Amino acid sequence: MSKLITLNEFIQTNQADFPFATGELSRLLNDIAVASKIVSRDVRKAGLVDHILGAQGNQNVQGEDQQKLDVVADEAFIKAFEQGGEVCGIASEENDDFVAFKSEQAKNGKYVVLFDPLDGSSNIDVNVSIGTIFSIYRRISPVGTEATLEDMLQPGTAQVAAGYVLYGSSTMLVYTTGKGVNGFTLDPSIGEYCLSHPSMKMPENGRLYAMNEGNIFECEEGLRKYINYCQSRENQTGMPYSGRYIGSLVADFHRNLIKGGIYIYPDVLSAPEGKLRLLYECNPLAFIAEQAGGLATTGRKRILEIKPERLHQRTPYYTGSKLMMEKAMECLAK
Ligand code: AHG
Ligand code: MN
Ligand code: MN
Repeated sequence: MSKLITLNEFIQTNQADFPFATGELSRLLNDIAVASKIVSRDVRKAGLVDHILGAQGNQNVQGEDQQKLDVVADEAFIKAFEQGGEVCGIASEENDDFVAFKSEQAKNGKYVVLFDPLDGSSNIDVNVSIGTIFSIYRRISPVGTEATLEDMLQPGTAQVAAGYVLYGSSTMLVYTTGKGVNGFTLDPSIGEYCLSHPSMKMPENGRLYAMNEGNIFECEEGLRKYINYCQSRENQTGMPYSGRYIGSLVADFHRNLIKGGIYIYPDVLSAPEGKLRLLYECNPLAFIAEQAGGLATTGRKRILEIKPERLHQRTPYYTGSKLMMEKAMECLAK
């Protein structure tokens, strides 16, 4: 049996890979892991809380009001970042504005974190996989001061680390610091993330496509051509590809990372800039996709090179296996 490597051990061993490594990024990744275990525990009892405890006037056993899971997740991560001391500020999909932490320790933090505390919220109530997505940058503002909007609005190329936690049939944490992608599975019996997917590579090609096809007549001609191509026998496999759409980006992305595939959320009439958020969803997963050998674009332009103008900026999003992405972009360009 090969030796079990915990996330903690892995982070320590690879710490020297980080630019300017002084241990803070390692501690920050550990803070994320701990917060994600709390969220994982709460996700695992979602049905119990809603249907058993919730029946008693929406208060839990401690007499606290029940909260929706995305608020629970948002608070768990913010608390971890605020208390950890490595982070001077955060921006979250759940908050209108970014938060600059006020303590002296936080003002000395070198990093900012941008995150989607619970991705796939519409799947919470129906017991389908959801996740957390995070993106870490070095601050631009001087150490010792409060975080600024400029710290948050950096292009994806400036990310020092990014990752996601998938609360699926098991809980997994996948992350990159720009030296490949590694995946860890939470062993609930010992409460540790263990290295289960070392050096993850997205297959160069695939036969799975993920798109909300309810929008097919709302999107541009070139994309309809690509979807026709996926459904025809004219593609590389000579057989129609399979459509797979979970409706939690993080879960659709994870499946494609392992099996090969493409995920598409285009601009549509009802969402002319696309639906997904550049800073909390698209950039972190684009960093991972590229690190695993895949691509992530707007359909035309590399996601990581977009200079963000607004915190909650949206973008059309195409990500997945290299050859599938190239074909999709070729259809759009025509
Ligand atoms: P969130 O739950 O964080 O708001 O994100 C939901 C996103 C994404 O996870 C998913 O792929 C997409 O919305 C689904 O949108 P449609 O229901 O429009 O397909
Ligand atoms: Mn989301
Ligand atoms: Mn969300």
